Amino acid sequence: MKNQYQKLQNLSTDQKNVSSKISTQSNLLKLIVVLCILFFMFGLFTGNIWSFYQKSFSFNLQFTQFAATNSSPTATPLQPPPSSPLEILPPHHDQHNQVMLMPGNNNTAGADNSTASRIGLSEYIKPPQNLMHDMKDEELLWRASMVPKIEEFPYKVTPKVAFMFLTRGGVILGPLWDKFFNGVDTNLYSVYVHSNPSNNETIIPPENSVFNGRTIPSKEVQWGSFNMIEAERRLLANALLDLSNQRFILLSEACIPLYNFSTVYSYVVNSTKTFIESYDLPGGVGRGRYSPRMRPQISLHQWRKGSQWFEMDRELATEIVSDRTYFPLFGKFCKSSCYGDEHYIPTFLNINKEFAYRNSYRTLTWVDWAKGGPHPTKFTRTDVTVELLQRLRYNNGTQCEYNGEKTDICHLFARKFIPNTLDRLLRFAPKFMGFN
Ligand SMILES: *[C@@H]1O[C@H](CO)[C@@H](O)[C@H](O)[C@H]1NC(C)=O
Ligand SMILES: *[C@@H]1O[C@H](CO)[C@@H](O)[C@H](O)[C@H]1NC(C)=O
Ligand SMILES: *[C@@H]1O[C@H](CO)[C@@H](O)[C@H](O)[C@H]1NC(C)=O
Ligand SMILES: *[C@@H]1O[C@H](CO)[C@@H](O)[C@H](O)[C@H]1NC(C)=O
Ligand SMILES: *[C@@H]1O[C@H](CO)[C@@H](O)[C@H](O)[C@H]1NC(C)=O
Ligand SMILES: *[C@@H]1O[C@H](CO)[C@@H](O)[C@H](O)[C@H]1NC(C)=O
Repeated sequence: MKNQYQKLQNLSTDQKNVSSKISTQSNLLKLIVVLCILFFMFGLFTGNIWSFYQKSFSFNLQFTQFAATNSSPTATPLQPPPSSPLEILPPHHDQHNQVMLMPGNNNTAGADNSTASRIGLSEYIKPPQNLMHDMKDEELLWRASMVPKIEEFPYKVTPKVAFMFLTRGGVILGPLWDKFFNGVDTNLYSVYVHSNPSNNETIIPPENSVFNGRTIPSKEVQWGSFNMIEAERRLLANALLDLSNQRFILLSEACIPLYNFSTVYSYVVNSTKTFIESYDLPGGVGRGRYSPRMRPQISLHQWRKGSQWFEMDRELATEIVSDRTYFPLFGKFCKSSCYGDEHYIPTFLNINKEFAYRNSYRTLTWVDWAKGGPHPTKFTRTDVTVELLQRLRYNNGTQCEYNGEKTDICHLFARKFIPNTLDRLLRFAPKFMGFN
């Protein structure tokens, strides 16, 4: 111990002797320390750089591609990076990059092939291609009662007119209507047929007819009975499934058009009012059909009568398929000889004043009651003349009100034409009704 101490002392006392040696040694030590620090810092630095590089690699890659694909010569590296890397990256970049681009998001496969698999609004609001469905009436009416709460459409709407045929068998005068619709843009109209399922004389329309495939799921209908109202609501509900249908016209197999399509279309689409007959009629066939048991929902002074052949807008059609107040009352207290189809909509309209206000109180379907009796005049083959058609078109010279002004056109359709009138109608129609 002492020896060692002495040795050290000797060393210290010998400092001057060995000073050059010692200074060389301490310099070496300092160098090593500095080198160590430098090495440590270098390691730290390179580590940071590496991780930073890894983080920004994908950005650099994408940025390079952005710069390469950007054709503008003024593009500088100072431009902000594009908001979404997915917009720029090619669809088949490697998996490693993808995970780093979307940290925490595992499921990038869907986004990867997005443009091919995504669908737009048009897919959501497409009307059903096949009119045959298995919905019960209750389900159909519920579906049809849906109304968008936002009233403004986010797309341009071309209004369609729904021509709804309530028939016993098929549309007997179908060939005349096919002429009427010939060459018309199919975005302007749609056709629906409610046909008695038990009728064994149903006419199968030809392949190229507008009636082909347009029959809705139908049920038994007896003329004048309550199931006639059910059939009308079934037609309205099916037509409401197509959001483009804005106007709804009820027709029968005995109806003919009196004007060409463009005249009919602009008349109903541009009308500020609906065309539903609704009037108060004293006597047996009017007020006499009212049942006091409909009180308090329907009183005698609210009871109305009118032709069943209506033209209405989408708001009223929706209200009628949604009606759970008056419809059941008619089902209970307006059967058989009450002829509910002549009272349900005229009375409904009279009670719901917001619709009454927008109604013209006239029908667009001409019919001849001149001979009296419970049924209007039926026109047969020999009745069909140019004079008759002209008289129907111009309402025998009387004018009607349309959008607050007088017009010569009061009726767009006429009934009742029996099947054997078809050939003469087809002959006269092009010239006198302006079908092309
Ligand atoms: C990724 O998906 C797997 C299985 O699909 C799951 O176990 C894992 O938790 C997911 N990771 C993240 C970050 O969502
Ligand atoms: C993307 O979608 C198309 C068409 O749907 C399909 O053919 C293709 O295989 C898909 N690609 C990937 C990577 O899933
Ligand atoms: C149709 O049905 C009626 C009675 O239901 C029957 O008398 C008539 O022969 C049938 N017609 C055809 C073509 O089957
Ligand atoms: C339809 O008839 C009217 C006259 O009633 C006529 O002015 C118009 O050109 C016709 N339209 C077509 C497409 O034939
Ligand atoms: C409705 O009336 C306006 C103004 O008179 C007219 O510009 C427009 O073409 C009409 N629309 C139809 C469908 O006839
Ligand atoms: C039509 O008008 C003529 C003369 O104005 C008249 O004699 C005839 O009775 C009218 N016909 C109908 C069905 O109103």
